[in-house]
Amino acid sequence: MKINTRITKLLNIKYPVIEGGMAWVGTPKLAAAVSNAGALGTIGSGNMEPEILREKIREIKELTDKPFAVNIIMLNPHAEELLEVVIEERVPIVIFGAGNPAPFVKELKAKNIKVLAVVSSDSLAIRLERVGVDAIIGEGMECGGHIGDVTTLILIQRLTDVLNVPVIAAGGIATGRAIAAMFALGAEGVQLGTAFIATHECEAHDNYKKKVLKAGIRDTVITGGKLGHPARVIKTPFSKKMLEMESNSPEEAEEMLVGSLKKAFLHGDVSQGSFMAGQSAGLIREIKSVEQLLKDLMKETHDSIEKLIKRFELQEKIAEA
Ligand SMILES: Cc1cc2nc3c(=O)[nH]c(=O)nc-3n(C[C@H](O)[C@H](O)[C@H](O)COP(=O)(O)O)c2cc1C
Repeated sequence: MKINTRITKLLNIKYPVIEGGMAWVGTPKLAAAVSNAGALGTIGSGNMEPEILREKIREIKELTDKPFAVNIIMLNPHAEELLEVVIEERVPIVIFGAGNPAPFVKELKAKNIKVLAVVSSDSLAIRLERVGVDAIIGEGMECGGHIGDVTTLILIQRLTDVLNVPVIAAGGIATGRAIAAMFALGAEGVQLGTAFIATHECEAHDNYKKKVLKAGIRDTVITGGKLGHPARVIKTPFSKKMLEMESNSPEEAEEMLVGSLKKAFLHGDVSQGSFMAGQSAGLIREIKSVEQLLKDLMKETHDSIEKLIKRFELQEKIAEA
């Protein structure tokens, strides 16, 4: 069974799977591995400066000739300059996160760049469809990193009801069963972040990967909620201190956050690092190559759909007998 959707066609990819943009984690090496394996790899530009992004784009072009995306977060003060780089370097796909990219959609589309946007609400999704985005990524609060407040289950049903453009589901997806469930809800693709941390090609510090493997389904916590920018991270001494400081000294808490993902990614530092990851960490038990991960995910997706059909056919036969 091959899963062809409007998303595989739009993005010219084999599997309807996107590597979510991840600041620090989404390096050219990881993104190229994802693209080479048949899904869509994404460079996470996070808070990058424009010339650094240009280097990263040139790096990925050396590593793959398949489509790839650049994720740009509207929180980055350099966002507009990053877009200029993306246009100059002829990046085929842009995925916006963390904010409203409406003012930029038209210009990118005019340059033949596919535009996708991550949302956590139906109202923003409807606005962005009106200004011409090619697809919407609905991200539920189970996800790692910055979060909204609606679950994936509810958000995807609502988005597929109100939108005409294809919907991609994100948040809490790390198994083929979950992918099958998202297709049942009407999604035409899925976006995964946490699952790609547990791969050989991910360049995160070993401690980061170990934290993901060890986490149970209740081992993440939301930090930054009181500061107005909630993010899901794995529980560590740092996250505990953050929660105390948010209540006692918000300014110091803000300072603690600066560079905290970098400290987790580069140094695996549990006392000062923010190990962003979703609840799906509790379902991930081994490190795989990106290629193996994608093959296993797609096989499990197909098997789950077949099993469901067989189970109902069987029940029908029993009922008829
Ligand atoms: C370490 C980490 C960093 C992230 N950084 C970004 C980012 O820079 N921009 C963005 O749009 N989303 C970011 N996300 C969200 C992912 O793109 C993706 O939507 C999310 O991880 C999907 O949920 P999952 O973690 O349950 O798979 C990040 C997620 C993680 C785990």
